[in-house]
Amino acid sequence: MNSEDICKNVIELATNTGEFIREQRKHFSSDKIEVKGQHDFVSYVDKEAEKLLVHGLSKILPDAGFIAEEGTGEPKPNGYNWIVDPLDGTTNFIHGLPPYSISIALTNKNTVLLGVIYEVTLDECFFAWGNGKAYLNGNEIRVSNTKNVNDSLIATGFPYYDYSIIGPFLKSMEHFMRNSHGLRRLGSAATDLAYVACGRFEAFYEHSLQPWDVAAGAFIVEQAGGRVSDFSGGNNYMLGGEIVATNGNIYNDFQSIVSDYLVKDKQ
Ligand code: IPD
Ligand code: CA
Ligand code: CA
Repeated sequence: MNSEDICKNVIELATNTGEFIREQRKHFSSDKIEVKGQHDFVSYVDKEAEKLLVHGLSKILPDAGFIAEEGTGEPKPNGYNWIVDPLDGTTNFIHGLPPYSISIALTNKNTVLLGVIYEVTLDECFFAWGNGKAYLNGNEIRVSNTKNVNDSLIATGFPYYDYSIIGPFLKSMEHFMRNSHGLRRLGSAATDLAYVACGRFEAFYEHSLQPWDVAAGAFIVEQAGGRVSDFSGGNNYMLGGEIVATNGNIYNDFQSIVSDYLVKDKQ
């Protein structure tokens, strides 16, 4: 199977699993919430969705391993791996607030081959399989053409357990409040990245993220013509826990502002 065919199978699986999540939300009650860590929640919905995804992905590519947020499956150190967040935006989900997404990437030795993000509440599926294009529900998408940070709408995520750089982070937010169309905190990093890919946001930055939050979304942004890096402008955004994702035009200016506030030796 080539990447495009694999991607089509993954889209079908993500859409079906999204239907499961949507159904559960209709009768979800707060006694189903479990606490994983500080302000970090999970429920049977995340876990069951992950099982459905891992089962389906194993059929699509029987030899691939898994790096999945809720721990289902084993990674394959030197082979193909699926990087899976079964429900990105759990806090939104438990409060009945959109958006929340399923995020799936396929990697081979740390190179991403395809990415699928299914935003459950709007039934929007963002995907790319590496032909230099990205799609939303089958229609090609591109990053926005905006040329200045001042004309940009910017997404971020607020710290909720790692407050180590909260001071500089708040200052960076103040900078963008004063020098952009505004800041948004949607509560789903995968959705933030998908929205950069389709031009709804010009830029996204956040720290303390995990590979399953960003693997699919960063790839989709790049395939849609955008640019992704860590805060310093390097490539360590999958495992390094920090990401900047923008349209191509504003990348240099945006990354340099983020770096001025948030890269230690520059503060
Ligand atoms: C979270 C969301 C959120 C981000 C957090 C993530 P989860 O993922 O992506 O937007 O700010 O850092 O952990 O826990 O809902 O899968
Ligand atoms: Ca997540
Ligand atoms: Ca999750």
